[in-house]
Amino acid sequence: MKYSASKNRYSNMLYRTCGDSGVKLPLISLGLWHNFGAKTPLSNIKKILFYAFDRGITHFDLANNYGPPYGSTEINFGKIISKDLKKYRDELIISSKAGYDMWEGPYGEWGSKKHIIASCDQSLKRMKVDYFDIFYSHRFDPNTPLEETADALETIYKSGKALYIGISSYSSKKTNQIYKILKSRNIKLFIHQPSYSLINRWIEKDLTKTIRKLKIGCIAFSPLAQGMLSDKYLKKIPKVSRASDTTSYLDKSLITKKNLKIVSDLNKIAIKRGQSLSQMAISWVLSNNYVTSALIGVRNINQLKENLESLNKLSFSASEMKIINKTAKDGNINIWKQSSSY
Ligand SMILES: NC(=O)c1ccc[n+]([C@@H]2O[C@H](COP(=O)([O-])OP(=O)(O)OC[C@H]3O[C@@H](n4cnc5c(N)ncnc54)[C@H](OP(=O)(O)O)[C@@H]3O)[C@@H](O)[C@H]2O)c1
Repeated sequence: MKYSASKNRYSNMLYRTCGDSGVKLPLISLGLWHNFGAKTPLSNIKKILFYAFDRGITHFDLANNYGPPYGSTEINFGKIISKDLKKYRDELIISSKAGYDMWEGPYGEWGSKKHIIASCDQSLKRMKVDYFDIFYSHRFDPNTPLEETADALETIYKSGKALYIGISSYSSKKTNQIYKILKSRNIKLFIHQPSYSLINRWIEKDLTKTIRKLKIGCIAFSPLAQGMLSDKYLKKIPKVSRASDTTSYLDKSLITKKNLKIVSDLNKIAIKRGQSLSQMAISWVLSNNYVTSALIGVRNINQLKENLESLNKLSFSASEMKIINKTAKDGNINIWKQSSSY
């Protein structure tokens, strides 16, 4: 059946300006890392994307290697954006990234101009779009001069293949450096995409200060710690869950007794607040005003519905904040930390 977007799609979502740009992002953005690849029927993917857009989610985040197999999520998204969502293209912020392993050989990953330009071109073709709203360097490459990575991003930006440029999982130091290089080429770094959640607090050390100072946006990925910040793992590991999926990156070893105790304590605080833990985890990330958007993932519409309810209770009392920050210790779950160690 032909999709027609809800007329009320903008009535309940909230939007925040991304850094000092003129662009607003929805407080909740949807990432397609898991559950949108070749294994998932296109009809399920459509249901989730249409529901998201009907609820005011205007930003969909992808990368070259989302799947499995790599590339298949972009292909699926391409089928939808070129037909059902085509007439809404100007209402959408669509992003992709290059930098992680994508194809065989020495040019299939990292930060060389060769990789990034070829990958961007491939992604545009798979997604059947003329341009990306945001194109990211997915990770810092210690073996490529940052000037070269910036060169690739500049080429993409100046050829109109992306309207804005972002970086992901870069340290504060490397963020400052690439910001300066891009600025010298008349490009304002638009956004940083770091992992951030109640139990993954690495950005608080110095990156948040840099983000504020440079006036760039911040879209926090994995705010639910890949699902750990819900009550689903408190009793056992459910069969249908990311931790049970051998192709996922949520290794069971991250679900330690220590982390489960933290999650269980946080769950009690969430219930007292009248929220589920997933909702409180999203509200908490968004309570940091340097965070432009919380970039979530979902397996189905029910999860998305539940998570969207977090927008109804965004504020925390001082005493709630105090107990949450005392309880929510870093759980050593940041599997992207290598990239930000330079
Ligand atoms: N830049 C990067 O390097 C990078 C890396 C990772 C992710 N990202 C981006 O960030 C996006 C989000 O990452 P993420 O998927 O890890 O985010 P997340 O929101 O922390 O985790 C999403 C997962 O949590 C579970 N979940 C969601 N809502 C739930 C609920 N209400 N109750 C119980 N479980 C729930 C689901 O897993 P189950 O399968 O267990 O149901 C879902 O797939 C990605 O899609 C991608 O766009 C970027």
